[in-house]
Amino acid sequence: MGSSSFFIFLFSYAILLPLTSSAPILINSISPNFTASSLQFIDNSGAFLQSLNKTFKLSFSHPNSELSQYYLSIIHSPSNLIIWTANPNKPISDSSRFTLSLNGLSITDDDGRLVWSTPKLDSPVSVTQLQDSGNLVLLDAQNVSLWESFGSPTDTLVIGQRLYLGQSLNGAVSGNDLSVGDYRLVVTDGDAVQQWNGLNYWKLSMYTSAFKNSNSPVSFLSMNGTGLYLFASDGSTVVIQVELGSSSDFRIAKLGTNGRFSVSKFVSDSWVEELAIPVEECRIPFICKKIGLCSSSSCSCPSGFHPNTNGDCVPVNASLSLPSACTNRGELNSSVTYLELGNGMDYFTNDFVQPVKHDIVSSECQDLCSGNCSCLAFFHEEASGSCYLIENHLGSIMSASSDKDGDRFGFIKTRVSSSPDANTNTNANDQAGFIWWRKNKKQSRGEVVKLGSRNSSFEELELISIPGLPVRSSPLDSWSVYFPLLALEMHEQRRYLELADPRLEGQVRREEVEKLVRVALLCVQEEPMLRPSMSNVVSMLEGGMPLGEPNIESLRFLRFYGQRFTEPSTIGNSNEQNEFILYSEANGTNSSANTNSASYNFLSYLSSQEVSGPR
Ligand SMILES: *[C@@H]1O[C@H](CO)[C@@H](O)[C@H](O)[C@H]1NC(C)=O
Ligand SMILES: *[C@@H]1O[C@H](CO)[C@@H](O)[C@H](O)[C@H]1NC(C)=O
Ligand SMILES: *[C@@H]1O[C@H](CO)[C@@H](O)[C@H](O)[C@H]1NC(C)=O
Ligand SMILES: *[C@@H]1O[C@H](CO)[C@@H](O)[C@H](O)[C@H]1NC(C)=O
Ligand SMILES: *[C@@H]1O[C@H](CO)[C@@H](O)[C@H](O)[C@H]1NC(C)=O
Ligand SMILES: *[C@@H]1O[C@H](CO)[C@@H](O)[C@H](O)[C@H]1NC(C)=O
Ligand SMILES: *[C@@H]1O[C@H](CO)[C@@H](O)[C@H](O)[C@H]1NC(C)=O
Ligand SMILES: *[C@@H]1O[C@H](CO)[C@@H](O)[C@H](O)[C@H]1NC(C)=O
Ligand SMILES: *[C@@H]1O[C@H](CO)[C@@H](O)[C@H](O)[C@H]1NC(C)=O
Ligand SMILES: *[C@@H]1O[C@H](CO)[C@@H](O)[C@H](O)[C@H]1NC(C)=O
Repeated sequence: MGSSSFFIFLFSYAILLPLTSSAPILINSISPNFTASSLQFIDNSGAFLQSLNKTFKLSFSHPNSELSQYYLSIIHSPSNLIIWTANPNKPISDSSRFTLSLNGLSITDDDGRLVWSTPKLDSPVSVTQLQDSGNLVLLDAQNVSLWESFGSPTDTLVIGQRLYLGQSLNGAVSGNDLSVGDYRLVVTDGDAVQQWNGLNYWKLSMYTSAFKNSNSPVSFLSMNGTGLYLFASDGSTVVIQVELGSSSDFRIAKLGTNGRFSVSKFVSDSWVEELAIPVEECRIPFICKKIGLCSSSSCSCPSGFHPNTNGDCVPVNASLSLPSACTNRGELNSSVTYLELGNGMDYFTNDFVQPVKHDIVSSECQDLCSGNCSCLAFFHEEASGSCYLIENHLGSIMSASSDKDGDRFGFIKTRVSSSPDANTNTNANDQAGFIWWRKNKKQSRGEVVKLGSRNSSFEELELISIPGLPVRSSPLDSWSVYFPLLALEMHEQRRYLELADPRLEGQVRREEVEKLVRVALLCVQEEPMLRPSMSNVVSMLEGGMPLGEPNIESLRFLRFYGQRFTEPSTIGNSNEQNEFILYSEANGTNSSANTNSASYNFLSYLSSQEVSGPR
């Protein structure tokens, strides 16, 4: 470039500068000394470095638009999926700074305090590259790698990345909150093991399509275009393999927020799941929250328990509460009592740990639990007299698989409390998006609820589709607004049968309609905190949990809308589906709509291929 054109360039740049407030995105590499903040790159959504072929970008990610929480992340650009995060547990503000110096990478907050940095390096950094594989690499002047993001994975593994012995993928708390949650997948010398709070719940080798080829100790887990492999230290001996079918598409392996480990490929702009373990959702430790009973992929509370607003199951008897581990060290045995879950119950750890004792009777097993403040529950197997103690963390309960020898009985330790306040735990995140309920859906196991994530076109709507009640397919006609009001009025007058589709005359019971109407009204309450969680909706519809009483105050808004539509529509029309769709104007798009519970996710990804469990 000649000097005159250089000055023209500079000049036009100077003129353009005030108009384009955002700095241009850099390609492939950056060199010291470089700094960036999210504000500076706001027009690129925080991205400031792209890989050569633009597949990946290094960016200030901002997963929860409600909060000023930013993360330094590597993002797969075509899908906008975060594959790595520097600071999952320490989100930063939009004015925090990212710096590349000779000493490495660092993030400092507004006050200049260090939030994150690469470890101390052997030599000064010459350049930082974002490679087309998604790896962020610090190189020295001899092009020797000093540090790589592939070496400190978060929750995702991409093709070519190795997860070494002892390393783990750590599931995030939620899509909005990238901090490390309770689930992880750790590479051991013999397997890749999924853990919840340190307790094993699944192993890659247990997957039906996993094959063990060698007894060599495992050195690392990695993935390529044909499958997922655990390799021995020579890097070529495959210890365990899962063939996925040859594909040139981009693949990721990820430990989800819900505890599922999945492999997906990115095909024509969407993710296709190729593997998800454990296959049986009920094997996921916290799938139905605390003491939720997972059966046929739905959640309910065992008898004697009902859900609190968190979705955890707590004793129905308000004078009993669940003890937290070791907080009541001095508790008298007399203040402890056990609620029996009934037989055929299982706990995810039972397959992974040895019983503490064999050949004892239930009362002896109970004594072992009573004498130990970290014991929260016990399982006793009648036939073998095996006693399993559940310590420190209480997850979900599942029905025991029928091939087990003998019945297992579960018992939950409870504390007799003087102040019955344990059942009134509230949680703002407990709001359903929209649900689609189909009772007795034929091809699926049991009663299945299909849930969708909140669709942008449904942003202000809640949708409930209930079989046995008349349907209207156009969402915003007067009927859909009028019906909830009618339902409310009929509910207040307890005239439920009048709401049923007349064609169902004699085929529906009042109780059935009442159940549906009450659940529907609970779900459209104006105050989001009052709405039941998905798992509670399921439990109520299945009868595993008593019906809640809709708060009339929180339904007052229906009357307002109802006034605008005075003409009551005719009940029943030509639609054959016998479904009723209820829409309600919901207030605002609060962040809670995006932070649904684990059971929400769990129910939304059922696929028919996953019906048969592993053996
Ligand atoms: C970067 O900053 C350090 C310390 O401020 C300085 O010693 C070094 O020369 C700078 N390097 C470059 C390439 O500007
Ligand atoms: C970018 O490079 C990676 C690694 O070589 C390759 O897998 C990918 O297909 C490339 N993407 C594009 C869009 O060329
Ligand atoms: C390092 O790599 C760059 C780009 O690939 C190359 O231009 C440079 O010569 C290399 N330096 C050394 C010391 O090998
Ligand atoms: C993936 O790795 C396995 C095991 O080393 C190997 O057999 C297979 O050929 C590899 N596939 C590709 C596409 O490189
Ligand atoms: C509730 O539990 C307490 C303490 O065990 C017991 O005394 C009481 O009878 C129980 N109430 C009911 C209704 O079961
Ligand atoms: C509770 O009962 C167990 C078994 O009978 C006994 O070992 C333990 O010492 C008792 N604990 C207390 C605090 O009394
Ligand atoms: C309670 O259980 C823990 C974990 O198994 C064990 O380490 C501890 O020794 C037990 N305590 C008693 C008093 O048995
Ligand atoms: C969102 O709704 C639109 C219109 O109803 C539909 O075409 C689209 O497939 C939906 N998207 C998702 C992700 O459900
Ligand atoms: C939403 O709720 C807030 C607080 O309850 C209220 O101030 C606001 O008017 C409501 N907005 C709509 C559109 O109803
Ligand atoms: C959204 O939720 C937050 C936290 O629960 C609350 O402070 C805020 O008022 C809510 N906003 C609306 C519009 O309801």
